[in-house]
Parts: sequence; C-alpha cells; structure tokens
Amino acid sequence: MRAFLTVLKQSGELVDIERPISLTYDVGKALAKASAVEGPALLFNKTESAFPLVAGLYGTRKRALIAFEATESSIHEKVTKAIDNPIGPLDFVGPPPCQEIVLLGDDIDLTKLPVPIYSPKDGGPYITAGIVVSEDVDTGIPDIGNYRFQLHGPRVLGLFSASNHRFGKNIAKALARNVPLHGAIVIGVDPMTIFACQVQAGDASNDWFIAGGLRGAPVELAKTISGNLKVPAYAEFVIEFTVDSDDQRIEGPLGEYTGYYTPASLKPTAKVTAITHRRGGIFQGLLTGKPITENHILKQIPFEASILRQLQAQFPTIADIAITNSGGVQAYVVIAMTPRYEGEARHAILAAMASNLHPKWVVVVDPDVDIRKSAEVEWAMSFRVKPREDVFIIDRTATAPLDPYTDGGYSGSVGIDATRPYGVEFPEVSEVPDWRRFDLPEIDRP
Ligand SMILES: Cc1cc2nc3c(=O)[nH]c(=O)nc-3n(C[C@H](O)[C@H](O)[C@H](O)COP(=O)(O)O)c2cc1C
Repeated sequence: MRAFLTVLKQSGELVDIERPISLTYDVGKALAKASAVEGPALLFNKTESAFPLVAGLYGTRKRALIAFEATESSIHEKVTKAIDNPIGPLDFVGPPPCQEIVLLGDDIDLTKLPVPIYSPKDGGPYITAGIVVSEDVDTGIPDIGNYRFQLHGPRVLGLFSASNHRFGKNIAKALARNVPLHGAIVIGVDPMTIFACQVQAGDASNDWFIAGGLRGAPVELAKTISGNLKVPAYAEFVIEFTVDSDDQRIEGPLGEYTGYYTPASLKPTAKVTAITHRRGGIFQGLLTGKPITENHILKQIPFEASILRQLQAQFPTIADIAITNSGGVQAYVVIAMTPRYEGEARHAILAAMASNLHPKWVVVVDPDVDIRKSAEVEWAMSFRVKPREDVFIIDRTATAPLDPYTDGGYSGSVGIDATRPYGVEFPEVSEVPDWRRFDLPEIDRP
C-alpha cells in the first residue's frame, strides 16, 4: 500500500490532515465531503490512536484507474487478461513486515486501532476496509473478500457475510463439519490485491492467483501466527481470528451500499487470536453508503470485467456491460449486444440474472446505445420496447441480502429486451451525420 500512497501523493490525489480528527463521525463527514467533490484521499495523521488512518484511497474512479494503471478504454481488457493469466503466490522468505509487531493474549486490544464510527446511527466502530482471508475446510482453497466488522470489545468483532459470498459459505461448511473456521482481516495491501477481492471467478478460484495476475507479479505470503492461513507479507495490519457461532451478538446497523441502514440483528462473532502489524502501521478506512462511495468504486471495475468475461463465453456478441453505481453496483445491469437469433437477448438477460450479483433489473440494448449514459439507455427503453413482448419478470429470485425491500430473502428480477426487434425492418436513427468533425470555431473549445 505504501508505494500506492507515494504515487497518489505525487499526483495530488492524497492529502495529509495534520490537525486532530475525531474518529466518532468526523472521519465519516470528511469522507462524505471528499467523495461529493471527487476530492483526494485523506491521510489522518492524528487520530486519537497511535496509528494514522488513510481513507478514501479508492474513492473515485480516477484513482481506481491510477491503481490499475489503465484508462477507460483499456480497463476491461486488462482485468480480463489478468483473470485469464493468473500468477500463483510466493512464500515470503524471512520475518515478514506485517509481523514486525506481534500482539497476543491480553495485549490484543482492538480499541487501540483507529476504527471510526462513520455515522450516528451505526451500531459502533466498524472496520470497513479489511480483506478477509478464509479457506474452504474441505478443499483448503483460500478466498479473499471485503467484509465489514463491528468492534464489540478489545478482542471480539461482529461479522456479517451474505450466504452467497465465499466467506459465508466457508463459515457454513466449517459449522456443518463442526470444525473451527480460522480467518484473518488484512488491512493495508497493494491496490491489485484489494481489487482482486471483487473479481467474480467462481468458488473454486484461488484468489491469490487472480491478485497475482492483476499485479503482474506474485503476491508474497506469510503464515499467520495463530493459524495456518497465509496473508500478504507487506500488509499494514493483520487481525487473526476464529469464528464463534455460539456467541451471537447484535451487529449493526450500518449504512450500506444500497444507501440504507441495514437493521441490527444477531450475528456470529469473531474472536481475535492475534494482531500483528508493521512498525508504524497505517490503518485504512472507507465509507460505504448511498452511491457513490468507495465501496462502489471498489466493486465496479472487477464486477463489470468479470461478469463481461463470463457472459461473453456464452454470448460472444456481447460488446460491453455496465453495472451502475445508482444500482449499488449490483441491482441494475445494462448489456450491449447484437443478438444473433430471435430470443438470444432474453437468454443473455437470464444468464445475467443467474450470476452471483443477483440483479433486480437487466436491460439489453444494441451496441449503438452508450450503456454508460442513462439517458441513452432510457431512450432505448422508450422506443425499442413493446412492454408486453419485451419486458418480463422472473418471480422469487434470491434478492441481494442487504436489499431493504424484500419478501424474506426473495425478490424478483425484471428483464427488458430493448434491442431492435430481431430480423424486422426498423426505422433508421435520425442523427445529423459527421457533426463531431464539423469545424465550428465559434463554439469549439481549444
Ligand atoms: C468495501 C466492501 C465491503 C463489503 N462488505 C461485505 C460484508 O460485510 N458482507 C458481505 O457479505 N459482503 C461484503 N462485500 C461484498 C463482497 O466483498 C463481494 O461481493 C465479494 O465479491 C465476495 O466475493 P466472494 O464470494 O468471491 O468472496 C463488501 C464489498 C466491499 C467492496
């Protein structure tokens, strides 16, 4: 992470905040403001704790592209290539930086870390920028994913993992086998490792290979102190834990990516078995809430690229996919494709509905529609759709777990085929040709 901080500082995308900042609400307010003006990432150097806190690192699409070293036109191809060219991890040789300081037993104290309470209705301080390492207890395949953790006390955290996410699946399997589930929250890693968390590559994928592919170099891993997991050797902090499903406590509320507070409810806890960190470790925070927040920025590029890759395998004439911020980068998917036969657009819609995103709306348009401009998509829905023929509802699909408006976990998904009718003459689009190249110095900007 430190190399990325240097890059951001050099490009004016990271500013130091030297005055003291309250972890209770003020970090949240600062991030909301920075996000609203697409401002820089913030490094809070005085945090009511011994450690600095960096936040908003991936708070804008611009910084995400800096992290990927890509442009809007190269980004999807870059991610797709990385998924197709995985690079396995290496074992770090020698004592890893992330274990320069090791805290065990009574020395473990989460309250000494700069963990903000982002907004007044949150249930407490939340670790929001951690990536969780866990393993499938049968296969040993590791998974990394972003998951939120509420501080319940110096050594106890509340956790939430949706049942369709791998951490949740790993917990459920360990419970069924009656064996402990070990995990590690890793804070402060290089950008490609955190973005790798959001790549959708199936339950059998070893995410370290994806992170390596994205980085173009292996992730160096070190064994945890209190378990057998492997974590990035250069991480700033590692919080090792075991999941305790017998000790359920109230977790939440937390302002979430849907733009709503998730209600408080009983959830399993994580018992911390070790905290390790780099000397002078830099903690990381991020704001999640009504779109657009850093949560959405972290998801959008990996989700779009990996779902595009999945769908193109079956529907090669899909040109692009947009998973919009307004839909929380989950509920609303727009696909640009040229159907090869009657009904193919509908099949593409069904395939997208069946993805792990669990979208509520899937719209397919022809590739002449710019799927990143909502007005263009609405134009297609207005004049290339006969509702009775082109709109359909698949009832009782599983909803996104944090959707505030569901029927006990079920929802429904709406498909809209807004492509021109297949094999039928359709009126020509009336657009003045060549206007882009027309010389008009009176209004052309230099
Ligand atoms: C900042 C952030 C926080 C997240 N928090 C949670 C969470 O607390 N619980 C959860 O189930 N998913 C959470 N997610 C979503 C998962 O990390 C994400 O969907 C991931 O792809 C899960 O993939 P996996 O099933 O391959 O592990 C979060 C995502 C981001 C970007």
